[in-house]
Amino acid sequence: MSWTARALDVLAAGEPTPLIDFPLPVPGIRLLLKDESRQPTGSLRHRHARALFRRAILDGLVTEGTTVVEATGGNAAVAQAWFARRLGLPYIVVMPGKHSPARARPVEELGGECRFVTPPLAIYDAARQVEGHFLDQFGRAAEHDLAEELFGQVRPDWVVVGAGTGATSATLGRWVRAHGGDSDERSVRAHPGDSPERSVRAQPGDSPERSVRAQPGDSPEAQRGDFDERWVRAPGGGSDDFTTREDAPGGGGWRCRVAVADPENSAYFPGWTLDVPDYATGMPSRIEGIGRPRVEPGFRPELVDMVVPVPDAAGVAAARHLREVTGLPVGASSGTALWAALELVERMRARGESGTVVSLIGDAAERHLATCHDDTWAAERGLDVARHEQKLRRLVSSAGGG
Ligand SMILES: Cc1ncc(COP(=O)(O)O)c(C=O)c1O
Repeated sequence: MSWTARALDVLAAGEPTPLIDFPLPVPGIRLLLKDESRQPTGSLRHRHARALFRRAILDGLVTEGTTVVEATGGNAAVAQAWFARRLGLPYIVVMPGKHSPARARPVEELGGECRFVTPPLAIYDAARQVEGHFLDQFGRAAEHDLAEELFGQVRPDWVVVGAGTGATSATLGRWVRAHGGDSDERSVRAHPGDSPERSVRAQPGDSPERSVRAQPGDSPEAQRGDFDERWVRAPGGGSDDFTTREDAPGGGGWRCRVAVADPENSAYFPGWTLDVPDYATGMPSRIEGIGRPRVEPGFRPELVDMVVPVPDAAGVAAARHLREVTGLPVGASSGTALWAALELVERMRARGESGTVVSLIGDAAERHLATCHDDTWAAERGLDVARHEQKLRRLVSSAGGG
């Protein structure tokens, strides 16, 4: 067997991650959390890393012995180091900031090398100068395998994710347009050339015509937000038996919409809303993993149905609530997605709609306890978490937002 064939075997799809049933006392509406913290390296970046390596190997850019290089400070480095070790490839990551043993350790334990660079934005040029193949998760954002796996487990009405590279929302949006019944036809914002009014109105509080459910022609299964119970577990534990893919739910007429939850300072909400594909705020996001100072090339606005702006303090409040419910020390990106999902649920409830919403848990790690779960960290950033906790309580209570 050639090295390439063996490598592609190593990069074959992994075990599916479970769905957690988020307790929601709203009749007819179900909220499920796709738990990517259960990936072998603890985050959604595991899928990105697999896709980037696959792409590079299929394109002949990485072969036996090629040094693989990336510029990143986060989960991506751990996931890529994990795959590099399995492929027997040297791995070098350029991280922003001063040398930090705590940040280097997880990569070094997987046999990778960390180089630290200041100022932070210099990491991209520094990585390009390292001899080897620069994976370039932003410049070459590769769509990954989340959509196929998720839609084999459940056929939701909405999926809510964040956007960093843009790959996850593009993966989901492309899949539903290829497989999800008449999604294109009813897409809120089918093309970048849509008029600004259409784009601006595609937000929570939209007119009923844009409602998710009960479209003529939907099958009864689709009306119920069809799902396969075997993939779903209760928060904080339950069955680990999530490994079979048989009997994936189907159903004619099913369609799903993709919502992106976007934090403060990020270019995605204004870029999508105003239909400016190269919009830039020039401001860094405070929410690790999502929100970018400019619209990245991997973000595909025409594949996204709605972008929901989420205040950073709201994302933090929702991350804390998520931890209370699931026991997982999730990052604020997962909280940001949950907040937007709860706003969607509230909108559906107010209109008397039923259906299923999936929100993504991007990662969970002890280190988040010192950031978004820590009051001092939030206070130093001027984040009024308590105010958003009140609204959160309303959103998750049976009274809804009323
Ligand atoms: C909740 C959530 N959504 C999405 C993403 C990543 O999105 P993308 O594929 O755009 O980099 C992350 C972070 O990796 C995340 O935590």
